[in-house]
Amino acid sequence: MSFPFPRLTPDEAAALLKDRDMVGFSSFTAAGAPKAVSKAIAARARDEHQAGRPFKIGVITGASTGKSLDGELARAEAVYLRTPFQSDPDMRRAINDGQVEFVDMHLSNVAQAVRTGVFGKINWAIIEACDLGADGSVTLTSSVGVSPTLVNCAERVIIEINRTHPVELRGIHDLYEPGDLPHRQPVPILRASDRIGQPVLRIAPGKIAGVVESRLDDEVSPFSEVTDVTRRIGANVAEFLAAERRSGRLPAEFLPVQSGVGDVANAVLGAMGEHPDIPTFEMYSEVLQDSVFALMRTGKVRFGSSVAITATKAQQMEIYANLDFYRRRIVLRPQEVTNHPEVIRRLGVISINTAIECDVFGNVNSTHVFGRSLMNGIGGSGDFTRNAALSIFTCPSIQKEGKISTIVPLVSHVDHNEHSVNVIVTEQGVADLRGKSPHERARLVTEKCAHPAFRDTLRRYCEASKNGHTPQTLAHAFALHEQFLRTGDMRGAVVG
Ligand code: COA
Repeated sequence: MSFPFPRLTPDEAAALLKDRDMVGFSSFTAAGAPKAVSKAIAARARDEHQAGRPFKIGVITGASTGKSLDGELARAEAVYLRTPFQSDPDMRRAINDGQVEFVDMHLSNVAQAVRTGVFGKINWAIIEACDLGADGSVTLTSSVGVSPTLVNCAERVIIEINRTHPVELRGIHDLYEPGDLPHRQPVPILRASDRIGQPVLRIAPGKIAGVVESRLDDEVSPFSEVTDVTRRIGANVAEFLAAERRSGRLPAEFLPVQSGVGDVANAVLGAMGEHPDIPTFEMYSEVLQDSVFALMRTGKVRFGSSVAITATKAQQMEIYANLDFYRRRIVLRPQEVTNHPEVIRRLGVISINTAIECDVFGNVNSTHVFGRSLMNGIGGSGDFTRNAALSIFTCPSIQKEGKISTIVPLVSHVDHNEHSVNVIVTEQGVADLRGKSPHERARLVTEKCAHPAFRDTLRRYCEASKNGHTPQTLAHAFALHEQFLRTGDMRGAVVG
């Protein structure tokens, strides 16, 4: 690979940044994040702090990253602003301690916010690539995120060529940016597999400040074993979807599926893969994780449209060894396209996401424990839930050895409201909230989804609040939360 750009060490690249610079990084989940330059920026911050000089940057990414980016930068106290999503324990701590201002955003909106200057001037885009041409054409790696917009808007660009990704990834990406308002055209995706853009990024060569070479793996954590609880949640979702298809409410050929990341999502996809009444289907999602590739190999998943390949090392090696097979079955797009409301609504996506807590009326909290402590962020869950043909939320009915009910009278923070949430699924059962009034919803969620240890409490809450369209009593709405904060246990809370 030869190119006419300065070759830099990670430290030389990090030395180009200034205190308070706004930096956009490639990445979506731990896939495709620049790792060598990020670590060097953290080291630079430590040196600057030791010398008594201020050094913090603003960090914009596609979504979460891995430990070399969010983790290293948080531990080095190198970040003053973070958006739009994270899932790193040290970054989470820094945010909840008030050291980092975190802006929690729908992922579909990030590119437009960057383009319109919501975060001010973007000083740097730092982009992981597997190939770079002399003309500034860049082949991205395992994710797209907001990279097309970041390189367009940034004053300068640093490319991190990561040799763990083969140059044969060229052709898997489909890069497209909607035109500027007010003359924007429809995004012309009519099927999950449609390609509408370019395979490579084009960066004006003069913008490229330098190229760093690395050989560092994507830092995707391995999944936990499926537990009895996640298996039952998965089985409940799969059986519900199969019954929807049998009833004719879902078309026989099925609809494209969006599924979140994590252990519950893994179990749900596994159960869908095994269910005899669920036909082969396509994914129109923002992440493809290990379980999807297993279903591609069995033929159950025909195609996957995504922002990222969020694969463990072993799975990534399998994909890279069989790129001819996967290239026909995967397209990686910018998150502005995967999560675009227009496309999600047109394709009729079935969205399946995970909640921290749900209330008996169908409002969902995906982001804040006890209304206060950020977990990860809303991510793409809002983009998909609001626009899906069928929106599903899953969660275990209890947390912390049964001391916390995830089904509560009123959520302590609202990410998805009752108007957008169609179905709630726990290991206890399925509450289909479509066409139901608040009184009916409260009964359904309590009886079908709540853990038996909390059902009487939730029944009493709704009985004590009989009047009105919604059986809500503000004085007791947070009785379970308040009792947990006082005693460490929600059980036995007095609700009226
Ligand atoms: N009250 C208090 N703590 C709770 C809780 C509740 N209601 N629900 C979960 N927790 C705790 C768990 O006990 C666990 O704690 P631990 O880390 O000390 O073990 C932690 O929160 C994570 O819970 P877990 O059940 O392991 O969550 P998960 O990995 O399945 O993730 C979300 C669940 C909601 C945090 C995650 O799906 C998310 O961030 N969603 C928002 C983004 C999104 O949906 N993106 C969509 C597409 S990728």
